[in-house]
Amino acid sequence: MSDGSLILGIESSCDETAAAVVRDGRAVLSNVIASQHDLHRKFGGVVPEVASRAHIEKILPVIDEAIGGAGVSLDDVDAVAIGHRPGLIGSLLVGVAAAKTLAWSLGKPLIGIDHVKAHLYAGALDAEPIEYPALGLVVSGGHTSLYRVDSPHDMALLGHTIDDAVGEAYDKVAAILDIGFPGGPVVDKLAQTGDANSIRFPRTLLDADSLDFSYSGLKTAVLYHVRGKPTGRGKGATFERDASSLTDAEKADVCAAFQDAAIDVLITKAQRALQATGARSLLVGGGVSANSLLRRRLLELGEAQDLDVRLPKMAYCLDNAAMIAGLAHHRHAIGAQDDLSLAAMATTELK
Ligand code: KG4
Ligand code: ZN
Repeated sequence: MSDGSLILGIESSCDETAAAVVRDGRAVLSNVIASQHDLHRKFGGVVPEVASRAHIEKILPVIDEAIGGAGVSLDDVDAVAIGHRPGLIGSLLVGVAAAKTLAWSLGKPLIGIDHVKAHLYAGALDAEPIEYPALGLVVSGGHTSLYRVDSPHDMALLGHTIDDAVGEAYDKVAAILDIGFPGGPVVDKLAQTGDANSIRFPRTLLDADSLDFSYSGLKTAVLYHVRGKPTGRGKGATFERDASSLTDAEKADVCAAFQDAAIDVLITKAQRALQATGARSLLVGGGVSANSLLRRRLLELGEAQDLDVRLPKMAYCLDNAAMIAGLAHHRHAIGAQDDLSLAAMATTELK
């Protein structure tokens, strides 16, 4: 492994414009994140065109702030890393164009990074090196997957969601309850005051040894609980009532019961995968790794089974560029780099 690498990371895959400077793949010198949540809130979800325009406005000030905040200059940087997949194409393109321009004009290597792999590296930032092989659990707005992780860059898919991602289920439940966007943090907070045993929502575990996930049944159960039986199908369906018929306390109960079911499934599947792989470390990443119940239950699991559970610091759970720069260190250390044909891609390289 090389020593003293200083990497500038850039991330623009969805609705956060981010840049960070990381030394040696672990020491985060700066981590700047400009969130666009306020722009998308009134639409109840991320609008791709709005997102890419906002990235264009923010990308250069965010990079400047990351360089300044790290107390370095662009010339000090050893490589420019970019999360170039997966994500919204229009959003990715802004970061990819910025990273290529910087790398080319500074004469520094360009390193393309897969955003999903980077989420599984977040637990190594400001922390001890990870012991491999490990089990990787990605829980984000777009992915819910388990991987066998053999090194920061080598991982094999063990299971994934066959419909909604867990973060997506949080966002949809928040929309059903009309309590805000993005849904994860609001549901998490409201759940603290609710009674998880007040309602029993389904836990979809699929076959006895399945490592796949399914969240659409849970989401539909919440929908029917809140709005009653539908008349008609699909978009044209009408319901008996809407979320305004629930008191705040009842909404809190729905949040707590939904969260209990959603997290129960993650824990059960992680246990299955730990048993199947024999891994002694568990890497967790993606926006839902900020969830208070998931964090508590994973730490309990780690304690009970003597596992090294890597929960990222809160600043590295949601989309950020420190995880991009940190992971890029490991490609830089072996002399790997990309050229200016590096493309923005909608899908992850992980199968
Ligand atoms: O990793 P991320 O920032 O973006 C993607 O790569 O998708 O994850 C965003 C997702 C959203 O669905 C958001 O609602 C969810 O993470 N999220 C949470 C929490 N904070 C963010 N879900 C549950 N509990 C939270 N505290
Ligand atoms: Zn993400």
